[in-house]
Amino acid sequence: MSGNRKKPGNHQKNRRAKAVKSSGIHRNPNQKSSSKKALEQKYSKQEWKPGNMVYPVPAVLVTVRDRAGKDNIITVAWTGTICTNPPMVYISVRPERHSYHMIKETGEFVINLTTRELVFATDYCGVKSGREIDKFQELHLTRQAASKVLAPLIEESPVNIECVVTECLELGSHHMFLAEVKAVHISESYLDAKGAFHLDQAEPIVYSHGEYFGLSQVLGTFGYSIKKK
Ligand SMILES: Cc1cc2nc3c(=O)[nH]c(=O)nc-3n(C[C@H](O)[C@H](O)[C@H](O)COP(=O)(O)O)c2cc1C
Repeated sequence: MSGNRKKPGNHQKNRRAKAVKSSGIHRNPNQKSSSKKALEQKYSKQEWKPGNMVYPVPAVLVTVRDRAGKDNIITVAWTGTICTNPPMVYISVRPERHSYHMIKETGEFVINLTTRELVFATDYCGVKSGREIDKFQELHLTRQAASKVLAPLIEESPVNIECVVTECLELGSHHMFLAEVKAVHISESYLDAKGAFHLDQAEPIVYSHGEYFGLSQVLGTFGYSIKKK
């Protein structure tokens, strides 16, 4: 990524050094403290021009079906959860994408989570257009019937989220489809005897600044930072 990089002035450096000294809560209390100079180097910053820098993000395979019954798959990284109750998600799609008119037409799509096994498909569906090829066929992916929408699920994905569009915000380069989740399908392979779902066993992937990564290590569980020992 290119940018208008500004070197930090002394004022910025001093402010940062003070902030580092006075905080410390972000660090594990058992971690060894570094020297002031090392901290200054570690936390030194450049200012870049405004751009998209919220990473990592999921890279999901979104399946769509138009009114004529033609299916397509598009890779989407601008996606996320926006409400717990009602369960709502968003995807942001450029109007020039082949999939865009399909979503506009039907108001439906399915978010299929991606895994190490699906990383090639994730990239491929993000660089090839359904205008020219049938991505299901090219990638030997299997269509599965959804229960609430007409767009198909991808059988090889461990989690399929059926969505119905409630609103389309025309933001600029991308139009943001806000959608309500109508059904969720999870692969039984990752359920344990007690019915707990272990998504990590499916080896999910993330997209970060142009690269795909696996998740290798659990660093904590929800609320661990305030848990009494
Ligand atoms: C990792 C990755 C993430 C992407 N994220 C988005 C996105 O969030 N929104 C979008 O409109 N296009 C995104 N794209 C580009 C589309 O997936 C790509 O243009 C695709 O070929 C469109 O397919 P279609 O023409 O069959 O709809 C992404 C591509 C990649 C590789």
